[in-house]
Amino acid sequence: MSKQFDVLVIGGGPGGYVAAIRAAQLGFATACCESNPYADPKGEPRLGGTCLNVGCIPSKALLHTSHLFEEAGHTFAAQGIQVGTPKIDVSKMIGRKSTIVNQLTSGIKGLFKKNKVSLLNGHGSFVGATANGGWQVKVGDEVVEAKQVIIATGSKARHLPNIPVDNKIVCDNVGALDIDAVPKKLAIIGAGVIGLEMGSVWRRLGAEVTILEAMPDFLSVADVDVAKEAAKLFTKQGLNIQTGVKIGEVKVLKKGVSIAYADKDGKEQKLDADRLIVSVGRIPNTDGLHAEAVGLQLTERGQVNVDGHCRTNLPGVWAVGDVVSGPMLAHKAMEEGVMVAELMAGQAGHCNFDTIPWVIYTSPEIAWVGKTEQQLKADGIAYKAGKIPFMANGRALGMDAPAGFVKMLACAETDRILGVHIIGANASELISEGVVAMEFGAASEDLARICHAHPTLSEAVHEAALACDKRPLHF
Ligand code: FAD
Ligand code: NAI
Repeated sequence: MSKQFDVLVIGGGPGGYVAAIRAAQLGFATACCESNPYADPKGEPRLGGTCLNVGCIPSKALLHTSHLFEEAGHTFAAQGIQVGTPKIDVSKMIGRKSTIVNQLTSGIKGLFKKNKVSLLNGHGSFVGATANGGWQVKVGDEVVEAKQVIIATGSKARHLPNIPVDNKIVCDNVGALDIDAVPKKLAIIGAGVIGLEMGSVWRRLGAEVTILEAMPDFLSVADVDVAKEAAKLFTKQGLNIQTGVKIGEVKVLKKGVSIAYADKDGKEQKLDADRLIVSVGRIPNTDGLHAEAVGLQLTERGQVNVDGHCRTNLPGVWAVGDVVSGPMLAHKAMEEGVMVAELMAGQAGHCNFDTIPWVIYTSPEIAWVGKTEQQLKADGIAYKAGKIPFMANGRALGMDAPAGFVKMLACAETDRILGVHIIGANASELISEGVVAMEFGAASEDLARICHAHPTLSEAVHEAALACDKRPLHF
């Protein structure tokens, strides 16, 4: 007889493993299957998906090391610290990153044991419906049955036609996190989140980095002021970012790669580099799910089609994370996973898609929540803005981090906070205050009346709230 579960989760990334843990906590007999594409020394399934294996966690580990390297080389001396010229041992840096990945991926196995989630090794694909309204799913060589299924199969890097990725010379996110020596010249196609983060890592370590971006505007997803400031700061750091380009032929040579492209004026250009990273977005993983076998609806973009509560068109089948619409972010996937488990248990599962924070872990960091100024203008919403530079913040000066600002946008009529945009040190942590405020429907006046510790970077958030009412105290 087939193994029977209340809930089967397909995919063990942040969306899937969190959904499985929450479902088990709520008393469901839960299993999670993982197709295990990441090399594991023992051939066991590695949990954590893109995020832990080839995404969030390894990239942040490399960003940290390269940031320290840059500080040691460029800012220590001005503070009276003499360390000489720092040298980077790339294999040690990559080894440290891999240790963190291993620690966290095996940690999730521990969480599965603790919460009694059964881990199944193998690719999951639909077989059909069961007689009692559940689903049969093939996992590896066996068919298991579950009353409810959560699809959390994530995404993979989008590749460009005629640019084969070997993850040695031409890399997507997988190879980009395992480069074994600092390239003299690094080319990147796509000035999005990965391009900027990985470009920052290798520039800090000494590579000459050129980023080729198709869109005419730089970082158009961010608030317009933030994007402008970021372009200025990143260019000053030495990142060569070219917007409005059209990529032509890419030739892989014996040692390196040659990229032909038309620049923003339409002039033919050629860029030679030792390595190329292609970071032009990601596509949902629905290959081999056998969606068609059960009539599971996909969108035109290949995502699993869901409603605002992650329900698919099939009863008892849900989908969360990168495989459905919305931002491809780990915390969004996790929120959806929890929501679905709670809805299955008859609880009021909830995910507020208006307060999902975005962070780009460059230096300075960029973070935002809510609407950008250009969105408010386009939507015809009257707003007021408060903007405070970190230059006016004592803690930022003490930290040698005067770059950037906090910008708060509030409704002109009700004062309700509509967006918070930060470019500056620790923006990734500071943005939480904006998220909490917006979740509670706060007005800028609410934040303005809350005591913020001194001296902290969070005082810039406080001052931005005061500035919405044109009464900042320190600027
Ligand atoms: P995934 O993490 O992709 O996991 C899906 C899992 O399902 C995979 O393990 C896959 O092997 C498995 N699977 C697929 N098909 C099947 C099948 N049929 N059967 C069984 N298993 C299957 N997000 C952030 O929020 N912050 C960051 O800092 C950040 N940094 C990133 C850096 C990089 C370089 C990249 C590439 C992404 C980054 N992301 C970041 C995005 C984040 O990794 C994803 O949004 C997140 O991993 C999505 O989670 P998921 O569970 O939906 O999918
Ligand atoms: P992205 O969507 O952030 O950026 C892709 C960029 O490539 C865009 O600017 C796009 O205009 C450009 N582009 C597309 N086609 C092109 C072409 N043919 N030529 C030149 N440029 C082209 O995608 P990216 O950087 O690949 O990252 C994928 C996703 O992973 C992100 O959108 C995000 O959801 C997630 N991620 C999140 C991180 C974070 O939260 N800090 C870090 C890294 C990734």
